[in-house]
Amino acid sequence: MWRGLEPLGRDPGSGGYRRFAWTGADRECREWFRAQAEARGLVHETDRNGNQWAWLGDPLAGDAVVTGSHLDSVPDGGAFDGPLGVVSSFAALDELRRRGAEFIKPLAIVNFGDEEGARFGLACVGSRLAAGRLTVEDAHRLRDGDGVSLPQAMEAAGHDPDAIGPDPERLARIGAFVELHVEQGRALDLSGDPVGVASAIWPHGRWRFDFRGEANHAGTTRLADRRDPMLTYAETVLAARREAELAGGLATFGKIAVEPNGVNAIPSLVRGWLDSRAPDQATLDAVVSGVERAAREHAERAGIDLDVVRESFTPVVDFQHALRDEIRRMLEERGRDGAGGATRTVPVLGTGAGHDAGILSASVPTAMLFVRNPTGISHSPAEHAAEDDCVAGVRALADVLEGLACS
Ligand code: GLV
Ligand code: MN
Ligand code: MN
Ligand code: MN
Repeated sequence: MWRGLEPLGRDPGSGGYRRFAWTGADRECREWFRAQAEARGLVHETDRNGNQWAWLGDPLAGDAVVTGSHLDSVPDGGAFDGPLGVVSSFAALDELRRRGAEFIKPLAIVNFGDEEGARFGLACVGSRLAAGRLTVEDAHRLRDGDGVSLPQAMEAAGHDPDAIGPDPERLARIGAFVELHVEQGRALDLSGDPVGVASAIWPHGRWRFDFRGEANHAGTTRLADRRDPMLTYAETVLAARREAELAGGLATFGKIAVEPNGVNAIPSLVRGWLDSRAPDQATLDAVVSGVERAAREHAERAGIDLDVVRESFTPVVDFQHALRDEIRRMLEERGRDGAGGATRTVPVLGTGAGHDAGILSASVPTAMLFVRNPTGISHSPAEHAAEDDCVAGVRALADVLEGLACS
């Protein structure tokens, strides 16, 4: 099954993935998902917000157990972030059928649309829309780098953009959602465990910094006469690192747009996106306000105009303790931490990465399983999980689904 998904949207040069929402690569991934559903006799549907569902049992019965993740990627992303959760969901269902498990609740596998936000700048669009955490008006305002709006992109891919909006009835029919994901750090590697359970997702957001100066000739403009926004941007990047270190959070400028973007022109505009995350809200506030203060001071001194816009924000997620503890107990009872049978404590870990599970957690009892990543590298073609650990993840997910849907 993995083999069929592997080549879709992969760059032959870097080996990384470019599976952006509503593009050709995304469509191929969606076709793969539908084929996997149909091969297992599951009922396939795409919801009003473009999320795909594969149902075993009656979708309308309620108290459904749902598992899955996403198939889209960041630019030059790895093979595991998202797809591991979807592939493991189908594999866990196969495993449960081999075990002869009898389902007393409906089970669904989901592929959430546009989780990474690589094309339109906002992460978790499909789950946010369903949960009412993104308004239809704001969704209509989303544009990609070429000026194509989200509704236009959806329509071009054959999805009715007029259908998008909150989907509370669908969410009300979900009794539990469990997302398996490759770990995006090294906690499991350090603790020596193949599988862990999520405790919390750090609060995080994206802020756009627009630095405006004056375009001018690189060869004739004296240094003293320049209003160069690139310098203020560079000072802001250094300040972001300092503020993050001081406060104990994270701050990253990973995307930049420059106008006019000529080698021999002083820029008129430098637009940089700050991604900031922290273990708690107060720390996040300290990082972001510190970066903004430093940017404003440098801008004022250099005669640069600065606008700062918060483009998205996700508050801290504390996954439901009852479900988390139940899952942990199930895994520990079965000795299914993947270590080969002996019962061990299954670790509980927080993460700074955003997930659809985090968005849904406000509406639905939600939990996450993490699979060890030996290097911790993610959002890169070097992202990896060992085959044995992936198998341990499938077994753990099958145990959890069996415990939730079959008894
Ligand atoms: C998505 O993976 C994010 O956390 O940025
Ligand atoms: Mn990701
Ligand atoms: Mn992901
Ligand atoms: Mn993510």
